[in-house]
Amino acid sequence: MPKIYLAPLAGCSDLAFRLICREYGAKFAFFEMVDAHSLIYESRQTFDVLETCPEDKPIAAQLLGCDPDIMLKAAKRLLAIVKVSSIDVNAACPVTKVIKKKCGAYLMRDPSGLYKTIKKLVSSLDIPITVKLRSGFEMEDHKKLVSIAKNCEKHGAATIFIHGRTRSQLYSGDVDYEAIRLVKENVKVPVFGSGNVFNHELAKKMFDETGCDGILVARGAFGNPWIFKQIEDYLKDCKLPHKISMASRKKALKRHLYLVNKYRKGVESSKVGIMRKVGIWYSKSFKNAAKLRGLFGQARSYEEILALVEKFICGV
Ligand SMILES: Cc1cc2nc3c(=O)[nH]c(=O)nc-3n(C[C@H](O)[C@H](O)[C@H](O)COP(=O)(O)O)c2cc1C
Repeated sequence: MPKIYLAPLAGCSDLAFRLICREYGAKFAFFEMVDAHSLIYESRQTFDVLETCPEDKPIAAQLLGCDPDIMLKAAKRLLAIVKVSSIDVNAACPVTKVIKKKCGAYLMRDPSGLYKTIKKLVSSLDIPITVKLRSGFEMEDHKKLVSIAKNCEKHGAATIFIHGRTRSQLYSGDVDYEAIRLVKENVKVPVFGSGNVFNHELAKKMFDETGCDGILVARGAFGNPWIFKQIEDYLKDCKLPHKISMASRKKALKRHLYLVNKYRKGVESSKVGIMRKVGIWYSKSFKNAAKLRGLFGQARSYEEILALVEKFICGV
């Protein structure tokens, strides 16, 4: 069966989001990315990111960093806090602040530190180490990408995840399926494709055009936890997804908000900020979307958000 994972999504794939995705069909998820330095210096936010519960399994962690010794220290710290099935090394984050520190997608530009990190983690830890790449840094360079992927494999990476966009593309523009296909052809370890997996058809396209072993669902799951089962059913026997009723959407939104309220740590304002974002994700599919978006954006408490859901969204 092809593997369909919930992608690492900084600022989004918190415990509530992972749980709602699992309840509707996701079989594997990632924690939000964790910065290696913050983990070592035990920042409170980092511990919040690693919040989990027994239903939140299986799960992988992802570390951001570029110094092999710090990455190992952080990985050991992480393993002392949570049980994960693998640790991923982020070589994909395009954010300028991260690139300036020579981390994230910068490792695609100068991968020597990436190989050292993978080697160090693989030789020191008893857990699979994976890597998340982009298709390139500034521009497409298939030869360099294949060489990076092969070297990651050589140094012990157990799986390669690739977002089929360069760092310069950030999150928009065409996905380079050919890049992912070339990596798949040139390594023996499993390869996962990422990019524009927004529905069952685009998921199939990713598998068909790249021959990948699995896919990451990212923005496609925002306000749409049904996507995992829809993709699975479509790949298994070409079953087309049913239209999701307004009542089902409302139920899922209420459940998601409940989970945020239950599990989100930190100050009330940040919790409400997450709830607003969640409300806005789901409101896309409601009739009065624009109005609802505005109202969710102004809400100041869980109760206010729930009242908006009851007042403006039809269904039980
Ligand atoms: C808000 C947001 C946060 C993300 N955070 C991470 C991250 O922490 N680590 C990572 O490897 N990729 C991260 N990504 C990239 C996604 O995992 C995925 O590769 C990318 O969005 C492409 O998939 P999509 O076009 O289907 O959304 C993030 C993407 C978004 C939109």
